[in-house]
Amino acid sequence: MKYFYITTAIDYANGAPHLGHAYEKVLADVITRYKRLRGTHVYFLTGLDEHGQKVQQTAEKKGVEPLSLCNEMAKAFQEMCKHLEISNDDYIRTTEERHKKVVKEILQKLFDQGDIYKSEYKGYYSAKEEQFLQEKDKMEGKWPESYGDVVEISESNYFFRLSKYHEWLVQHIEKNNEFIFPTFRAKEVLEFLKEGVNDLCISRPKARLSWGIELPFDHDYVTYVWFDALINYLSAIGYGTEKFDAYWPADVHVIGKDILIPAHGVYWPIMLKAIGLQIPKKLLVHGWWLQSGNKMSKSKGNVVNPLELIDQLGVDAFRFFLMREMHIVQDSDFSKELFLIRYNSDLGNDLGNLVSRFLNMAQRYCEGKVPEISVHEKAEMELKYLWESSYEEILKSMDMYQFHKALDILFTFIRAINRYAETRAPWKLAKSTEQKDRERLETSIATMAEGVRLSTLLLEPIMPTISKKIQELLGTPSIQAIDDALKWGNSLKGNQLGEKCILFPRVEQESEGEEKKD
Ligand code: MSP
Repeated sequence: MKYFYITTAIDYANGAPHLGHAYEKVLADVITRYKRLRGTHVYFLTGLDEHGQKVQQTAEKKGVEPLSLCNEMAKAFQEMCKHLEISNDDYIRTTEERHKKVVKEILQKLFDQGDIYKSEYKGYYSAKEEQFLQEKDKMEGKWPESYGDVVEISESNYFFRLSKYHEWLVQHIEKNNEFIFPTFRAKEVLEFLKEGVNDLCISRPKARLSWGIELPFDHDYVTYVWFDALINYLSAIGYGTEKFDAYWPADVHVIGKDILIPAHGVYWPIMLKAIGLQIPKKLLVHGWWLQSGNKMSKSKGNVVNPLELIDQLGVDAFRFFLMREMHIVQDSDFSKELFLIRYNSDLGNDLGNLVSRFLNMAQRYCEGKVPEISVHEKAEMELKYLWESSYEEILKSMDMYQFHKALDILFTFIRAINRYAETRAPWKLAKSTEQKDRERLETSIATMAEGVRLSTLLLEPIMPTISKKIQELLGTPSIQAIDDALKWGNSLKGNQLGEKCILFPRVEQESEGEEKKD
């Protein structure tokens, strides 16, 4: 059996986790949970990128050993994953022996086959970005600020023959439309490749940087951090062992737009080609979360701490907001005001109220049991048809990673259930003595139950905890695979329902900008 193998980028261990990191984990987790619901065997990997100059420098500043900084960060990032309900199967750290072993094996192989060679390097170097630069990297004659101090250096180093595979890569991208999503990002990579590529310097002299994986063929050097980090996708799944084939090639590498060019769009496929491995099926490239138009980053000091938001509004609301607001291919501006609006309207008014009203009516008029759907009048038929035309669209949107669209359609349906409740007005039907009205009343409760059941199924990948809770309130076991369960019916008939409860307590925006639950 081949797993659907999905990964995220591995985060740098030199700073605390922020919203950008959280988003990427949630996105990969939503895809994972969605695939699992549809019966696919998924293997989900995430982890930490622990070597390199940035980590060494941060550790020096803090006066600690690099590994102890990494241990502290690994704890913080893993804690974040736990709070976010991330269902990863493994967490790889690049300081682990299993990883270092594979990096060395691969370096040796590439060296032995002549794809890595030693040469003299003379040119510009940005310590901040750990990158060798060329004149063409200047903008208007100056080095962009993002490179920090750029110095001229001359040293012997080891190079990987990127240029040898340049033509192959151009053709691979041109022939495989599915490889880079969204497609306009593939065009950006092809544009970058137009000028050709230089061979990649994959070593750093220990005299300058000691925090890295030693080259197996020259003990005076460590491996360039990107060459080391990318290999995590192979080392975690047992490269060189029998179990490897059950995972590779990766089905989706989820990454941010900043690490497509050149790392994942150029270095990675060429490394794999040189190693003799298949190329991943897809690079899923997401946009950035911005704050007032700027990228969130530690150095800008405008980071949003995801754990604070989770503490205030709950993990499901947080995951919902990230998926509802980010249009994956673009950037999105983060605003707490918008988060609160979505929380109170979509989650509080639309979903939360629906569940609590319906449970209340079921207790009051039907002794908390789901009755039979015996009436099939216009109101019921309209809701049923709306579901039937919505769910295929929702699945299609999820298949295309358009989660904002899937949620938009789903919440249109949830609002339609609320309108159905208004139209049927069970509280009025309850006053009637007619038998037909009693049937309508019971049908309306059962129809609402069915609507809530179906919506909750498709919410599961995004809001796993609340979905489970609603399923418990509906008296259904949590669903393992949804395809059959998505059909409209009366499958809850006879179920004992839970007591009404408030799923999303209203949160008021306070004048000082502080919020608290009431
Ligand atoms: N360590 C490298 C990745 C190596 S993968 C073999 C790295 N780390 S990072 O910590 O800087 O970023 C990790 C991921 O978080 C990247 O995919 C990056 O794009 C994403 N994000 C970091 N800040 C972000 C936002 N503000 N918004 C959305 N995602 C962004 O790059």
